[in-house]
Amino acid sequence: MIKQVAFVAVLVCFPFAGNASHLDPPLDLPAADAEAGKQKAKVCVSCHGADGNSTNPAYPSLAGQVSGYIAGQLSLFKSGQRKNDIMAGMAAGLSEQDLADLDAYYSRQEIKPGLVSKEEKESVLRGERLYRGGYAPLQVAACISCHGPRGHGVPMRYPRVASQHRQYLEEQLLTFKASYETPEAGARFSYGDIMTRIAFLLSDRQIKDVSAYMHAMN
Ligand code: HEC
Ligand code: HEC
Repeated sequence: MIKQVAFVAVLVCFPFAGNASHLDPPLDLPAADAEAGKQKAKVCVSCHGADGNSTNPAYPSLAGQVSGYIAGQLSLFKSGQRKNDIMAGMAAGLSEQDLADLDAYYSRQEIKPGLVSKEEKESVLRGERLYRGGYAPLQVAACISCHGPRGHGVPMRYPRVASQHRQYLEEQLLTFKASYETPEAGARFSYGDIMTRIAFLLSDRQIKDVSAYMHAMN
């Protein structure tokens, strides 16, 4: 058992060693202007909501994301490494200055807390155990080690997951999982294959449970 814990710790420490200097693709963005970002975000409101709080559970909220993550994902949509037809079109015309400004604007907004019903308590509790403790039988690292004790993420690379729409979270975990099974058709880039490998090892029920828990985290 002690050996197993040590193994998980090594897995978890490795990506931290790279940290911000190993952003891939490397992002060397110009100085940001959050006010300009607010203006540029007007075309995003119809899907990502006012102030980055989306009301459609299929579209992620962007409010309160860790700085650097939004610019990073926009550049992945641009390069086609993360595949989504809508976002490919939205990102195509954005300059590096736009990425920096949008990132600065959204990371300064506040995300609205997610709510779950009483009937979902069991699922949320199972999700909490996975989030905090990982899944030892398959040596799945605990989510808490990268996404943080409250799900607030770590700039520049580990995204916030707290209060995000569960439907979106679930879809992304299933997409990571599918991207591991068939990398040629992989729709979602995964830094160092971390998330694709983790999601591949999770059952659909675990994905449902942990998504409910992340949505409920505030
Ligand atoms: C017509 C709807 C639509 C519009 C308009 C739109 N988006 Fe999106 N956005 C989406 C969808 C759908 C996804 C989820 C993509 C996926 O599944 O990979 C997404 C995902 C994202 C993500 C990834 C979030 C994450 O947590 O990984 C970012 C960042 C983003 N959009 C930024 C923007 C910005 C900035 C704009 C405006 C310039 C914009 N979007 C406009 C629909 C939209
Ligand atoms: C070793 C670090 C690490 C661990 C452990 C980890 N993640 Fe991640 N996660 C990442 C990184 C990095 C990303 C950003 C995508 C990328 O660059 O690969 C991410 C992205 C995500 C996303 C997409 C968020 C969005 O806005 O689109 C979800 C959902 C997620 N992780 C859930 C989990 C869950 C659930 C666990 C535990 C079962 C977990 N992660 C464990 C590093 C980690």
